[in-house]
Amino acid sequence: MRVRLLGTAAGGGVPQWNCACTACRRARKAGTVRTQDCVAVTGDGRTWYLLNASPDLRAQLVAAPELAPGPGPRQTPVRGVLLCTAELDHTLGLLALREAERITVYGTAAVLGALSGPFPVRDILAAYTSLTWTPIAAGEPITLPGGLTATAVTVGAKRPRYVATPSAGDWVVAWRIADPRTGGVLVYAPCLPALAGPFRTAVAGARVVVVDGTFLYDDEMARATGGGRTATAMGHLPVSASLRDLATAGARVLYTHLNNTNPLCAPDAPERDTLAAYGAEVAEDGQTINL
Ligand code: MLT
Ligand code: MN
Ligand code: ZN
Repeated sequence: MRVRLLGTAAGGGVPQWNCACTACRRARKAGTVRTQDCVAVTGDGRTWYLLNASPDLRAQLVAAPELAPGPGPRQTPVRGVLLCTAELDHTLGLLALREAERITVYGTAAVLGALSGPFPVRDILAAYTSLTWTPIAAGEPITLPGGLTATAVTVGAKRPRYVATPSAGDWVVAWRIADPRTGGVLVYAPCLPALAGPFRTAVAGARVVVVDGTFLYDDEMARATGGGRTATAMGHLPVSASLRDLATAGARVLYTHLNNTNPLCAPDAPERDTLAAYGAEVAEDGQTINL
């Protein structure tokens, strides 16, 4: 399996267009830009699946040589999208795929429901491309063309803000992607509220875990802006609370979905030494992994 990290920032990216906080100023000055979190995976090198569809998707695809079209004039290796949530930072990019001849989108009933009601992407895209919406049940593996097996693992119940009516459901999932030919297993969890049972089970045996690094500290928003909710209240377990535990998982751990307040965004941040001490890494845009 080959994995390309297309983007590694939380919603808004780094720098955020309207933000003049210390981290955004620094990123703007140094050119250390992070696009919003999105991943591409392939089992055979020809058939690729996106994990989420970020608002930056067009630029991310254009920057990825593996995802270039051809040899046919409109032949793309991108076959589908596996959604972790229905949040805007994971779904706005679906609209950027409207030029595709066909798209298959996999998501839980809750997530696909949001995309046919409150955020009617499904109806909008139907006028442009041939869509297949495949509902997935958490815990049940699906076999993707190209040889990979994907299993959604429910990790949270936080629905997007645009979904006004409270409704229970598998709103937030991690994806466990396995390559039966190599034995390689990737777990992708950009939104992880807690290290609960199903997630721990998914991580067991994984070689690579790309996980929620939105915030380094639980009170990071208050530290950066003087106010705001805690990371935990926003459904994001802070790195400081997951680092030691994940280090024992036996997998390579990379933190992604970094918010622009996160000190780890800076390439020379001293806080990166603490991660390194636990063998963990900060994910970078454009990074590739074979497993
Ligand atoms: C999240 O990661 O919690 C969401 O994307 C938040 C948001 O942008 O509304
Ligand atoms: Mn997000
Ligand atoms: Zn900022």
